[in-house]
Amino acid sequence: MNKLLILVILALAACSPKIVSFAKSDVQRASEKFPGATMATLTEGQNHYKQYCGSCHPYKSPDARNEEQWKKIVPKMVIKVNKKAGNVAIDSLMEQSVLTYLVTMSTTSKSK
Ligand code: HEC
Repeated sequence: MNKLLILVILALAACSPKIVSFAKSDVQRASEKFPGATMATLTEGQNHYKQYCGSCHPYKSPDARNEEQWKKIVPKMVIKVNKKAGNVAIDSLMEQSVLTYLVTMSTTSKSK
């Protein structure tokens, strides 16, 4: 393998949020906390997060905050996103998917 290529991949990986594909156990955790949440909810939440939440500060990893913290922070940040956009860029359904994604991925095992 070309060393330069590896470096480029590492550099790209370091400055973009990790692209996570979700496991069945993630979907199960999501639906326990957020009834009706599916794989699509997590995927959408991650996409919205990547689209809207990295423009003012670096992306924070989902495990950088816990459930209670995300429940307070996400509504505050959605207001910021919408103010910056000058319209409703994130509606309440999208907000719910972002919250589902962040809370679900803030823990990776049920024991936490
Ligand atoms: C318009 C700029 C802007 C956008 C867009 C934005 N943020 Fe923030 N964010 C800030 C500022 C400013 C702070 C620090 C002050 C504060 O906490 O209000 C902050 C702080 C944070 C913190 C740390 C706060 C704490 O109490 O620990 C988190 C986590 C966070 N943002 C997540 C997000 C998420 C999730 C989104 C997308 C929904 C987002 N941000 C979008 C401006 C933004």
